Amino acid sequence: MLTEYKVLDETAAVHIPAHLEWEEAAAYPCAGVTTWNALTGGSPLLAGDTVLTMGTGGVSLFAVQFGKLFGATVIATTSTPEKAAVLKKLGADEVINYMDQPDWHLRVKEITKGRGADHIVEVGGAGTLERSFKSLSLNGQINLVGWLAKENPLLDINNFAATVGSMRRIAAGHRRHHIEMNRAVEAGKSRPVIDRVFDFSHIKDAYNYYAAGNYLGKVIVTLPYHLP
Ligand SMILES: NC(=O)c1ccc[n+]([C@@H]2O[C@H](COP(=O)([O-])OP(=O)(O)OC[C@H]3O[C@@H](n4cnc5c(N)ncnc54)[C@H](OP(=O)(O)O)[C@@H]3O)[C@@H](O)[C@H]2O)c1
Repeated sequence: MLTEYKVLDETAAVHIPAHLEWEEAAAYPCAGVTTWNALTGGSPLLAGDTVLTMGTGGVSLFAVQFGKLFGATVIATTSTPEKAAVLKKLGADEVINYMDQPDWHLRVKEITKGRGADHIVEVGGAGTLERSFKSLSLNGQINLVGWLAKENPLLDINNFAATVGSMRRIAAGHRRHHIEMNRAVEAGKSRPVIDRVFDFSHIKDAYNYYAAGNYLGKVIVTLPYHLP
């Protein structure tokens, strides 16, 4: 809601974690809630499970952070060594550069000693799904969140039939997910990755910056004042 004032029903708002600044709390509603829904809304993530994340978009960065909050092993894919370093710093246990290693599913299997990933936060879609099928553990879950990788749209569904896993389409999440997520974020003193904060008076610059795509973390627009 790009506005200074908005009247909402009280059920449309949640309390924010006490340790967060307003700009930090604003990073969670879409990408954070979606990720929380992916990891808890279906087959719930357990300590010791392996989470596979893709890239360094908002959903994937939260998937790394939440995976570690839950005590999971996190394997992340990315495109550059610089981004790999950011993912490592954020807590990823293993990072695979998919430019160097296009058959990254083989590396996932190697890292997990053949078991595969229990939860895959799928943001690639058509271009990554076949490798996700091949990365999945027995009874693992693919959480279908996004469609960033549009190449190779003709999937061989036999590769899904060869798994004993499930696939769940995620459409953001509901208020309960947001409240649960905020509780976990507060308990874990977790903070989002913020690339840059723009003042409300520079909204167009913020949109142009975001559209250029050279960000890592959230791009935030802040208001000149806050309600108490
Ligand atoms: N279903 C829902 O509820 C929901 C909610 C939020 C978002 N989404 C969707 O989820 C997806 C991710 O959104 P986001 O905002 O988190 O991410 P984003 O900021 O759009 O992600 C960009 C990053 O994804 C990686 N990437 C881009 N193209 C890729 C490709 N072909 N293969 C693998 N990785 C690629 C790149 O990271 P690296 O260079 O590090 O690889 C890139 O920096 C989008 O499709 C979005 O529409 C869905």
